[in-house]
Amino acid sequence: MEILHVSAECYPVAKAGGLGDVVGALPKYLNEQGQIAKVVLPMYRTRFLYTHQWEVVHKGGTNMGNWYFDFTVIREQSNELGFDLYLVDINGLLDREKIYGYDDDTERFTAFQIAVLDWVSAWQDKPDVIHVHDHQAALIPFMMKYCYKYQSLKNIPSVLTIHNAQYQGWMGWDKSVYLPQWDTWHWGMLDWNNNINPLAAGIRCAWKVTTVSPSYLAELRYNSNGLEALFEYEKGKCVGILNGIDVDVWDPETDHYLNDHYDTVEVEKGKAASKKLLCEQFGLDTEKPLISFIGRLVGEKGADLLAQAIGDSFYYIGRKMNFLVLGSGFPEVEAALTALKPLAQYDYNVYIGYNEALSHLMYAGSDFLLMPSRVEPCGLNQMYSMRYGTVPMVRKTGGLIDTVVDLGEPDGYGICYNNASVGDITQAVWRATDLYEKKDKLKEIRQRMMQLDFSWESSVEQYIQVYRSF
Ligand code: ADP
Ligand code: GLC
Repeated sequence: MEILHVSAECYPVAKAGGLGDVVGALPKYLNEQGQIAKVVLPMYRTRFLYTHQWEVVHKGGTNMGNWYFDFTVIREQSNELGFDLYLVDINGLLDREKIYGYDDDTERFTAFQIAVLDWVSAWQDKPDVIHVHDHQAALIPFMMKYCYKYQSLKNIPSVLTIHNAQYQGWMGWDKSVYLPQWDTWHWGMLDWNNNINPLAAGIRCAWKVTTVSPSYLAELRYNSNGLEALFEYEKGKCVGILNGIDVDVWDPETDHYLNDHYDTVEVEKGKAASKKLLCEQFGLDTEKPLISFIGRLVGEKGADLLAQAIGDSFYYIGRKMNFLVLGSGFPEVEAALTALKPLAQYDYNVYIGYNEALSHLMYAGSDFLLMPSRVEPCGLNQMYSMRYGTVPMVRKTGGLIDTVVDLGEPDGYGICYNNASVGDITQAVWRATDLYEKKDKLKEIRQRMMQLDFSWESSVEQYIQVYRSF
């Protein structure tokens, strides 16, 4: 079967978070199972673009409202990714350095989706499935159904995967003129609460909807940023499929970001070496347990609780542990974490920014990884950390429920808590320091975690079942 994935991110071409990791891995593993999976994304101005060879496969011109634009589709030539990769170039609109965060993101991603459908309309042999990811591509199932121009795509099954339902891509009804002429009888498919809601339109129009973990799907029916009723109504076509991790990229035995590689036999030595590097770089103490946080500094991840929870941990438990934070996001969260630095010197440090290499070193060199998420559709960090022998400290939500078993349970290995609160985090830190003192138990848990299987194999099988269901 031929499956075209449409997304705003795809590692290693363009990544802002887990969406990039998933779209960079799922197609590769689908192909290994005998499918033909391809990926199309906007042509941003990324390093990958300038370091690879491309061929032009399509040139077109189209309209978004009154605005006519030319676009070009290029294909990566080395095939080193394990799938065919296509980029859509729309001069001046997509070719920027950042993926998101511009005032005209609505226009950028709407034009991208129109260009993709124009291009696919020109294919002689159409794909068997169009698989779109998140709200930046979620207008596609609507347009395939109701735009006159795309009648040739009407019978192609579409799948929408929701990586995060917090972001829905709302736009005012004035933007409806952007869409190629459509059957306005069906305006209700676009509308949610007097706005155009691309994610809601995708949920209604896609043939099947998947979420990135089963527990997250269950959660969406009572907590989905205003779409609860829709998830309840459409539950028949929704399925939760847990993400896997790309074990070729995330492997402590081969990770090219690490100097000291390790497997289950060498884990204690390997982790100690990476921890030493981290502690030297950030002025921390190798003797104390190292608790890290990696991620977007936003409310969803509970990042606003970190500064106080770290302060409270020192106050109530004592200076028995070190903390290291890597991330960027809300300025007030960044400011609070930066302000803590001089107060907690030698026991705490923070790196504000995005740094792929440092993240790998932290998964390897930390003893614990903190994830006090309010919302976590799947979460990849906890799976990476476990593969690197680092104990996850997670709030019980979404995909964290599906992947982490508390060490108080039989064969458990993680530290789980119920609330995204300063108190629950402090209590989890206390449990971490306690475990760190029980060296044999910690060793045993590291072995257990590293042997867990979070590879894509079973998830890919579930996606294939979805494609075959049409
Ligand atoms: P989300 O997609 O919601 O941000 P995930 O857990 O699915 O969360 O994925 C986050 C991915 O982004 C992981 O690969 C993580 O290592 C990476 N990441 C997040 N913030 C940073 C950062 N500041 N520097 C490097 N990598 C980061
Ligand atoms: C989103 C979610 C995250 C998930 C990722 C990949 O960004 O926030 O939990 O792991 O997508 O599906």
